[in-house]
Amino acid sequence: MQNVNEETITQIVLACHELAPDPRFKQIMTSVIQHLHAFARDVELTEDELYRGIQFLTDVGHITDDKRQEFILLSDTLGLSMLVTALNNRKPSGCTESTVFGPFFASNAPRYENGDDVANGAKGEPCFVSGRVTGLAGEPVANARIEVWQADSEGFYDIQYDGAESKGRGSLRSLEDGSFHFRSITAESYPIPHDGPVGRMLNALGRHPWRPAHLHFMIEAPGYERLITHVFRHGDRYLDSDAVFGVRSSLIADWTRHERGTAPDGTQADTPFSTLDFTFILNRATAAVQRRNGLGSAHGNDATAGNWRIDQGERIQ
Ligand SMILES: [Fe+2]
Repeated sequence: MQNVNEETITQIVLACHELAPDPRFKQIMTSVIQHLHAFARDVELTEDELYRGIQFLTDVGHITDDKRQEFILLSDTLGLSMLVTALNNRKPSGCTESTVFGPFFASNAPRYENGDDVANGAKGEPCFVSGRVTGLAGEPVANARIEVWQADSEGFYDIQYDGAESKGRGSLRSLEDGSFHFRSITAESYPIPHDGPVGRMLNALGRHPWRPAHLHFMIEAPGYERLITHVFRHGDRYLDSDAVFGVRSSLIADWTRHERGTAPDGTQADTPFSTLDFTFILNRATAAVQRRNGLGSAHGNDATAGNWRIDQGERIQ
């Protein structure tokens, strides 16, 4: 492979992978190389621009730690996360749509009973959330594992603060009739972390870093496809310009605001509060879906975010 030139280099690099033992990895790397080379040819990439790109990715790595996952932010803000979510979650009409997982999930959220306050001291106006988990035919899904997580009124998730206490996140189960209810705080719009390389990239592209107010949900139940989604707050100013392209109109719901008084749980709220009700409709799991979700497979496509991994052992089998 001497005298490699701009016409021959792509095929020469690909020929080096002829003996790659994993066909899927070979397929992926072949496509990555073809697209990277095509990109460089397309824009006539300069050596300085290549170095700046490498420096950018180096910065993305350096700022990433167990609390901050800049690579997920990069994938999210480039639309890659939402594209992969869409490719992997085609479902029948009527099922609740999926959206991006995001970088703020934590697998060690406290377990709560229905009616508990998952805010656990997070700042914000009280919000009483209720809903149901059903299948496409309307059948109730009992004992579904419901993971919920959200930012506080300052726009930060608990894991962005110093200290290990879980606030604004929890794990609970649906009741026999598929219903669930808990107390939390009212979601507000927030900017994704933008004091690092991804923020500089957004700025250079003339983009803002804001996400419309939302609650994150992950719902799992035997026999159904795992659902990773958000519920967005109707009326939010960023619904049409989400920095990570995650909004689906079917996921927008009313947060009804109430003056202080008797709350849904019968307690007296001494501040205004909001209520939200949302029904999640799960897709039946086919064998292919179960394999993709890692249900019943030792090599499932575990949902990960930074150091947070949903381990096989934690799943509902
Ligand atoms: Fe979020």
